[in-house]
Amino acid sequence: MEPLAVTVRPERPADHDAIRALHDVVFDEPDEGLIVDGIRGSADAIDGGSLVALDGSGAVIGHLLASRGVIVGDDGVERHVWMLGPFAVRADVQGRGVGARLMREQINLATKRGVPLICLLGEASYYPRFGFQPARQLGIEPPQPWADEHWQALKLPSYSADLRGRARYAAPFKVG
Ligand SMILES: CC(C)(COP(=O)(O)OP(=O)(O)OC[C@H]1O[C@@H](n2cnc3c(N)ncnc32)[C@H](O)[C@@H]1OP(=O)(O)O)[C@@H](O)C(=O)NCCC(=O)NCCS
Repeated sequence: MEPLAVTVRPERPADHDAIRALHDVVFDEPDEGLIVDGIRGSADAIDGGSLVALDGSGAVIGHLLASRGVIVGDDGVERHVWMLGPFAVRADVQGRGVGARLMREQINLATKRGVPLICLLGEASYYPRFGFQPARQLGIEPPQPWADEHWQALKLPSYSADLRGRARYAAPFKVG
């Protein structure tokens, strides 16, 4: 299918309802929208890290959230990383590059901010195209016993191999 021309930018207050509605429809349950609302304005929110994709009419057709997460090393030292998700593109425009645009912009932002690593739980077949690999290969353990192929991480330029340990998500994710 033809790539869709979209504008990607950080969310604005006027987008909040549309973002919630997008997740409610794409996931057919309220959990993702509640996570987005829970992160917004919290200490784990990232300035400019809630990205929306708009179509030519200005409608929100995609959203990708980054939030602050932590990797707790064996020595108890905590280092900040970014967690990606929830991530949704409206069903009628999926497969036209909107998700990839959002992902690339988020990776660029994390790189500019000096974030060493971004982690996510997601489809094994989609994320490796952006450079993600199974996080356990890097010594990054998930907060719950998630499958290797779904628990993924992307090393960014400021990554160093001593970044190892167990991942902790912001409280609204309710994953421990
Ligand atoms: C995952 C999602 C955000 C990707 O956005 P998108 O705009 O459809 O993705 P793109 O157009 O950039 O990429 C399309 C490619 O990804 C693949 N793809 C899309 N969703 C996929 C999925 N859930 N699993 C595996 N591959 C997927 C398509 O087959 C296509 O592959 P190709 O390029 O080899 O043909 C979107 O499909 C979506 O909202 N899915 C439902 C919700 C979801 O699963 N969210 C992620 C978990 S939080």
